Amino acid sequence: MTVDVYLTPTELDATLRAEALRGLTASPKYLSPTLLYDERGSELFERITELPEYYPTRTEFALLCENAGEIADTTATEVLVELGSGSSEKTRVLLDALAPTLRTYVPQDVSEAALRPAVRRLTAEYPEVEVHGVVGDFTASLAHLPAGGHRTIAFLGGTIGNFAPTERAEFLTGLAAILEPGEWLLLGAGLVVDPSVLVPAYDDAAGVTAEFDRNVLRVLNDRFGADFDPDLFVHRAVWDADNEWIEMRLEATRAMTVHVPGLGIDVDFAEGEQMRTEISAKFRLDRLAAELDAAGFTVRREWVDADARFVVIAACRRR
Ligand code: SAH
Ligand code: TRP
Repeated sequence: MTVDVYLTPTELDATLRAEALRGLTASPKYLSPTLLYDERGSELFERITELPEYYPTRTEFALLCENAGEIADTTATEVLVELGSGSSEKTRVLLDALAPTLRTYVPQDVSEAALRPAVRRLTAEYPEVEVHGVVGDFTASLAHLPAGGHRTIAFLGGTIGNFAPTERAEFLTGLAAILEPGEWLLLGAGLVVDPSVLVPAYDDAAGVTAEFDRNVLRVLNDRFGADFDPDLFVHRAVWDADNEWIEMRLEATRAMTVHVPGLGIDVDFAEGEQMRTEISAKFRLDRLAAELDAAGFTVRREWVDADARFVVIAACRRR
């Protein structure tokens, strides 16, 4: 099995340090979503994907299962690159369907803890495919991704929604820049749905999402010696109807000062103060197609579930 590390622990630490410092000293405060995914965070995310309220994973999985043959016919993928691949669980159905043309699978993730076991398992299960893991940051450089072969970049799970609109446009333009005309983007995105369905998906009854969100405070404690007490924060999931995104926040239940020696700062929280940890934008088909078009892609196929909660798009890099 091969795993290339293009983001060493030292580099990751420097990135996270800069982001944590910026977010904790901003007004209002926010934290970088990348901080969510340490080993425990990646495990908690896997538990989220199994929650009854969290429909995105199983909806996308069903779309991939039902349409895997068409995805394979449309893209004729030889090299499948997947960004933010996590456990790669859903991707198996693609690996199965793409088998006639597929030579190489390149899962990429910032979480080495999530990536390594996935690469190990898939290497054993798909001996005919070259599985080549990459530890990297998809917001930094994608220059390490393999060139050549007829490539498809998969970006699943609705992770596209975790970018702010400006960064999303830059990210999509960057993807178009590394692809050759005729190569493919396979994008999974959450659609705008009723808040009565959406909000519980990001604030489940069992409290797993709250635990995932609060884990970011443990990450700050581990990495930077901070003294956050995660029990003094509650998780909030707020639907922003104007921006059409759900915003995850941690709310301080009382006033406190948190020491973060690793960053050389003390951080004051007022009672009730909220700090953003993640946004998850939801999309409308016409606007998403327009964004892809503006970035240099042509949408060729769209697969939507019967409840119109999620879309999988095959978009071709234009000449
Ligand atoms: N694709 C999987 C996982 C989605 S969760 C699924 O659909 O279930 C988002 C994934 O993106 C996590 O595995 C997380 O570790 C990864 N991730 C978050 N920020 C990242 C970054 N900056 N670069 C690369 N991967 C990142
Ligand atoms: N990519 C996932 C999503 O937007 C990430 C996610 C799921 C998440 N649940 C969360 C992020 C809760 C922060 C908090 O659906």
